[in-house]
Amino acid sequence: MIPILITGGAGFIGSHTAVALAEAGFKPVILDDFSNSQQSVLQGLETILGHPVSCHVADCNDYNTVLDIFQREKIRGVIHFAAFKAVGESMDEPLRYYHNNLGSLITIMEVMLATGVSDLIFSSSCTVYGEPEELPVTELSPIQPPASVYGNTKQIGEEILSDTVKADKPLKIIALRYFNPIGAHPSAQIGELPLGVPNNLVPYITQTAAGIREQLTIFGDDYPTPDGTCIRDFIHVMDLAEAHVSALQALQVINTTSHYDIFNVGTGQGNSVLELVRTFESVSGQPLNYRIGPRRAGDITAVFADATKVNTRLGWKAKRSLKEALADAWRWQQHLGTSDSAG
Ligand code: UFG
Repeated sequence: MIPILITGGAGFIGSHTAVALAEAGFKPVILDDFSNSQQSVLQGLETILGHPVSCHVADCNDYNTVLDIFQREKIRGVIHFAAFKAVGESMDEPLRYYHNNLGSLITIMEVMLATGVSDLIFSSSCTVYGEPEELPVTELSPIQPPASVYGNTKQIGEEILSDTVKADKPLKIIALRYFNPIGAHPSAQIGELPLGVPNNLVPYITQTAAGIREQLTIFGDDYPTPDGTCIRDFIHVMDLAEAHVSALQALQVINTTSHYDIFNVGTGQGNSVLELVRTFESVSGQPLNYRIGPRRAGDITAVFADATKVNTRLGWKAKRSLKEALADAWRWQQHLGTSDSAG
């Protein structure tokens, strides 16, 4: 089995990608500093996979430790998730965000070059498109000036990748621009574990339904959309996880020594916040306590993917429905129970 390093592998997308990789016959090797994740994720992973998972507790910025892990585990490819991701916090702590998100990427790439490992998948975000002028967004849609430090770390991250490949360094890289990942593994053994009050919509919804939060606030219903609420491309996290496997397999058969490409990873469909709430109510069988509040600063009105490139070139397509994603998120919340266990 080919060992693939998953930095941030104990996080939400990383842990689901570990499952998808193992199912595709790779050996996931997790590197995580557990600054925004919990050890219990490993038990969940081991229950799903039926065997222990290799995990190293380390900081991706620590060159010597990362080098040692590459050598000991005989790493042959990397999926680099490890990053801070809270948009609001990034505005208060810019240096922490630039240091962690860019330093870790540079360190990983330096270690890859030092050890002759070529294949890298990078977690980017649809945040690079800002407020798009045309929908759906393709990979050629204009990049907008970043609205947050977090968003800027993704834009600069992409530039670091493309500049390095332009300089003919022997790296084969795919950046995946994620839309809005939601849901959980259907076994309810792993899922999203926000620390404290969730920033994101779906964990806020499931925690409200579980009685942990009193009421969901929908941030604005006066947007220029059919029902006035924002529109996003909500993608099941297992579909997103499987996109990483497809990307890695695509890199493995590329003959050139240097390669860089970018793919949107979304369903291609936009759903409004209110549609998502309604769908959640129908899958959970209970009404959700919500109110309409003011807009949240920095929110984009609508963004969803044109997924043609990833569908045709990587042969990957989202398979799971919004209903399935919300049913899985709800099952996961019920597994966690009603205590604010992550907070
Ligand atoms: N929303 C609410 N109430 C909440 C939380 C969210 O109404 O309590 C709304 C937001 O206003 C937005 C939608 O739900 O319209 C989705 O919000 P999320 O916070 O779940 O997701 P975002 O689209 O804002 O952000 C996500 C990722 C970011 C990434 C961004 C790129 O969380 O990391 O997409 O657009 F940068």
